[in-house]
This record gives sequence, structure tokens and C-alpha cells, in this order.
Amino acid sequence: MSTAQPTVPDGMRADVELAQRGRSEMQFLQAMRAGLRPLQARLRERLEKEAALEEAAGDIARLREAADEVLAEDPRLGIAGAALRWNRAVLTPRAVDAFEERADELAPKAAPPAPEKIADRGEEAVPRYWRYEFHGTAGGWDGHEHMGFIHHELVYRYLLVPSFPGDIFGQRTRVAELAPRDTYTDICDLGCGTGQFTLKLAQAYPEARVTGVDLSLAELRYAQRRAAEAGTEWDLVRAPAEDTGLDGESFDLVASFILLHEMPPHAIRKVFAEAFRLLRPGGDLVFSDVAPYRLRSPYQAWYDDWDAENGHEPWWRTAATIDLVEVARTAGFTDIRQEALGQQSYPWVTVARKPMEGLA
Ligand SMILES: C[S@@+](CC[C@H](N)C(=O)[O-])C[C@H]1O[C@@H](n2cnc3c(N)ncnc32)[C@H](O)[C@@H]1O
Repeated sequence: MSTAQPTVPDGMRADVELAQRGRSEMQFLQAMRAGLRPLQARLRERLEKEAALEEAAGDIARLREAADEVLAEDPRLGIAGAALRWNRAVLTPRAVDAFEERADELAPKAAPPAPEKIADRGEEAVPRYWRYEFHGTAGGWDGHEHMGFIHHELVYRYLLVPSFPGDIFGQRTRVAELAPRDTYTDICDLGCGTGQFTLKLAQAYPEARVTGVDLSLAELRYAQRRAAEAGTEWDLVRAPAEDTGLDGESFDLVASFILLHEMPPHAIRKVFAEAFRLLRPGGDLVFSDVAPYRLRSPYQAWYDDWDAENGHEPWWRTAATIDLVEVARTAGFTDIRQEALGQQSYPWVTVARKPMEGLA
């Protein structure tokens, strides 16, 4: 198993060193993921040879049943699933331990600049589904005071960057640049997390006032830090993306990056309606999320769904099957188009416009 230090691309701080124990634990988890790939490749060969998936293509429930039938006697599926679930479940706790080992040094690198400037709609505004322990992480998005740093410096650096296909930071830049106009004055990033995509928006449209909305205080604190380190300042708001409490018609671009697959379908519809409310007439929406199953091969669709289930992603299937064109149209948008920007149809971007008054 390789324990080479992964390369850290643009968009990440590169000065985070862990104590040897923490680093080797993170590298073990990363190497374990790589070690599972040959097992998954054998499963893929078997499924594709049997052609069972072709007959069920287009219907994810039938695809799952067909694969279960083919692999019913194959212990490799259970082993791969158990290994994946274990890996995901311990990933953040191990990153928290690694952080704690050097907390004296790392906490100052993780803390937001003083004074902390985050408007907060309070606990009552938090929807119940957000409390789910996404990715199996104990405590969910806010499970540690410095979860923003832990997730985005340690988990991203040691686990996501090495195991994810494509350039996960460059993808955010490309989505930001896909917005139809050359300039914007007021941009809102829904589900901004620690501000990885927010930063790309701010860089693509340097004249704009930028607002980030998220439900995780820990992530928002790190977003404030990221903005300060980039020499800028964003308005940060802790609120649900589907009910931000921000003034209507106060933005000309509302965007999001990998927010929708964290939400149940009724919330996705509300987010589009909220984006419509927030936009001025003629304003643009740019939402990017996971690839629809219909654009994937039967094997890939099966794998995405199986992986999401074993990776504690309860709403992935919804995001991969919902018709976002219909959702956008129902919310009132026009000029709706969709585009796959990278390999394997990801990022999958929906672009739409709020009509000028009288033209709807
Ligand atoms: C996968 S992260 C993406 C963060 C960021 N957009 C990026 O590009 O790195 C998803 C974020 O959505 C936030 N989130 C999930 N449901 C939300 C909701 N209903 N309202 C606001 N934020 C939400 C989570 O707290 C998390 O920070």
C-alpha cells in the first residue's frame, strides 16, 4: 500500500503537518480505499459479463435488485461494502484525533479572525434532516468546534483529493465561470460550507459583494477565515438555504456547489423557490451537483447508488434522479439548460434565469 504524501493542489493550505501517528492513520485509510479498487474491478467484470444490468437500465431500484441477484453468492460484495462503511465511519473521527494531537498548534490556524461575523437565524431554523450524521460523521457537520478545518484541510487533503477523480478545486472554478454574465454585483452561495466554491465565485467576479449561507457554524467560521486569508470579506449567514431570511430581489447570481444531494426532494424544490425569490428580475441561477444516473452506464449508476448507500448519503439517489429542469420551471425560471462539465458527467450544472418582469 502506498503511503506517499498526496499532492495538495491550489485552493488548499499546504502548511498543515500532523504528528506521525495521526498522519499514518489518515494515510492508512486512504491506502485502504485504494486497496479496495481491485476488488471493485472484479465485481464490475462480473456484473458486466452477466448483462443483467443492461436489462434493468434506467430504473435504479431494478438495477439494484438485478445486481443483488447476480452477486448473491459472492462474498466480495459484502466485504467491499463493510470495508467502505467502516472507512467512512472512522474517517472524520480519525481526522479529529489527528487534529487533537496537535490542537495547540492547529487551533490558531483553524480559528476565524476576531471578531467573528456570522449572522445566525438560530437553532429553530435548522431542519431535522440536516441533523443526520452525513457520511457517518459523529455529530454531523458541526460535530467539532473546528470541523470546518478538520473536514476541509485534513479529510480533503488526505482522503478526498487522492481518491476522487478529477481536480475537485478546478471544477469549482469552472462552475463559477459558467455563470452567463461577465460581471455580477451581488452573489449568494447557498450551502457554502467552508467557502471553497465561494472563493472561486469571488475570484471570478471580483467586483461582487458575496454572501455565503450554510447551516454549519463550524464550516462558516472557517469560511470567514478563508475569506480573510484571501484578503476579502463575505457576508456569512447561518440559515437554511431554503429559507435564508435574506431580502428578496437582492442578488443577481444565486449559486450552489454540491448542496442539493444533501437534501430531501421537498427541500430541493424550496431551494429553487428561495433562489427565485432572492434574485432580481433577469438574475441567474447556477446550481451544480452529482451526475444524474440516466447519464451513467448501468454499472456506474449501480455503483453510485451502492456507494452512496454505504457512504451514508441518504439523498444522493434523489439528486441523481430528480428532474431539475422541471423543478426550475415550476419555481418560475426560464432559459434553463444543463451541462456536464467534467469526466463521468460531473459536475452536473443547471443554469437558469429569473425572467424580467412581464416576460414570464
Ligand atoms: C458537501 S458540502 C459543500 C460545501 C461547499 N459548497 C463546497 O463547495 O465545498 C455541503 C454543505 O451544505 C450544507 N447544507 C446542507 N443542507 C443545508 C441546508 N438545508 N441549508 C444550508 N446549508 C446546508 C452543509 O452544512 C455543508 O456545509
